[in-house]
Amino acid sequence: MTVTIVGAQLGDEGKGGVVDLLGEPADVVARYQGGDNAGHTVVHGGEEYKLSLVPSGAIRDKVGILGNGCVVNPRTLFEELDTLRERGLDPDVRVAERAHAILPYHRRLDGIEEEVKSDDDLEAGTTGRGIGPTYEDKAGRRGIRVGDLLDPAVLRDRLEYVVPQKRALVEDVFGVEAGEAFDVEALHEEYSDYGRRLREEGMTVDAGSFLADRIAAGDDVLLEGAQGTSLDIDHGIYPYVTSSNPTAGGACVGTGLGPTTVGQGEIIGVVKAYLSRVGTGPLPTELRGDDERERLAEYIREEGGEYGTVTGRPRRVGWLDMPMLRHAARASDFTGLAVNHVDVLAGLDEVNVAHAYDRDGERLTTMPTTTEAWGECDPIYRTFEGWPEIDWAAAAREGFDALPENARAYLTYVSEELDVPLTAVGVGPGRAESIVLDHPFE
Ligand code: IMP
Repeated sequence: MTVTIVGAQLGDEGKGGVVDLLGEPADVVARYQGGDNAGHTVVHGGEEYKLSLVPSGAIRDKVGILGNGCVVNPRTLFEELDTLRERGLDPDVRVAERAHAILPYHRRLDGIEEEVKSDDDLEAGTTGRGIGPTYEDKAGRRGIRVGDLLDPAVLRDRLEYVVPQKRALVEDVFGVEAGEAFDVEALHEEYSDYGRRLREEGMTVDAGSFLADRIAAGDDVLLEGAQGTSLDIDHGIYPYVTSSNPTAGGACVGTGLGPTTVGQGEIIGVVKAYLSRVGTGPLPTELRGDDERERLAEYIREEGGEYGTVTGRPRRVGWLDMPMLRHAARASDFTGLAVNHVDVLAGLDEVNVAHAYDRDGERLTTMPTTTEAWGECDPIYRTFEGWPEIDWAAAAREGFDALPENARAYLTYVSEELDVPLTAVGVGPGRAESIVLDHPFE
């Protein structure tokens, strides 16, 4: 069977920890979209691992797949694998031959385009990893796929077609000097070398048939989403989004498994007990604007360690947004919820949740379709009494009923509003501070 893990908000919901917690029975962990923009932190054996591309399950002896929906920077891939090996791990990572490769010119273009857009306040605040430009080339049918790296002659043909276009774009349209990132020979040398290494290490696969065969043989597969629903290119807060589909439909197209296979499994929405955001764009429940709210944001940011895993940027912080979660639950058909960071809110007198929005006198219970309209929404808050700081690991050992009463009321409200049962609750960074109410693989 499959279990799909989907971010319900704006990324950074703690999906890595949930994959680690629920993925134990899985034999294979596959990512289906995104690339090295996806910061995920996994704590294993007291050690903290910060990854941006390698699937989190790969540090736990599972086969890790980067599906065809991913964009793969081979430089990052090999750097992460080498670092993990230096730390004594032996990750088994396979890459879909249909996945697209990120090239150095994609990164350059990401930076240049963001700068140009910033004149009109339209920059997405990207991670600068070249994600958008790579997906653009995929849709524009001028991308270079992982399979192309395996054949130096094909790679040369592809580069000779695309690189002059990129060079012209940078020099003639943006008026910037191109440089090595736009040099066919240098790119061919570096990328055919990656191709050689991928081939020699037997790392490439046809993701769809590999996964289907493993499922047919009785293996359990965990499908690991990156980013979150509101960063989805179709269902998110366009244009302040990433360029792929973190929602559950992406798990089908991004791996080659059919919707019946994915839909027969469980789809777990990962929720952070409040909101955090790296990058720009509106955020109706953001804690800012007066000293009191700024202080609260600072408190939550420090308690929750809300700094970007990939970029180190301080994250913007806000209250939980139920219209956003209703939208996410519907778009992905969540069958379970994993709510994280409940401990971070401990010690506050009260905790607010945007139950609905008011937009020009109209009451909305889900997100409007345009980001401009979303920016005009005023949250209608519901206030919950705060809960105290407790020994979270001890409570986690005892189970859900050992959590403070007000925290339980908060979690029950979220689950009932979405009509989705709680699968797990996170009250700290490690597995020992997590409660599994209903294991999706069991
Ligand atoms: P990109 O994915 O680098 O193109 O960035 C597009 C938007 O998605 C920006 O607002 C980023 O901050 C956001 N983003 C991308 N990856 C992540 C992530 O892993 N966590 C949170 N936000 C992300």
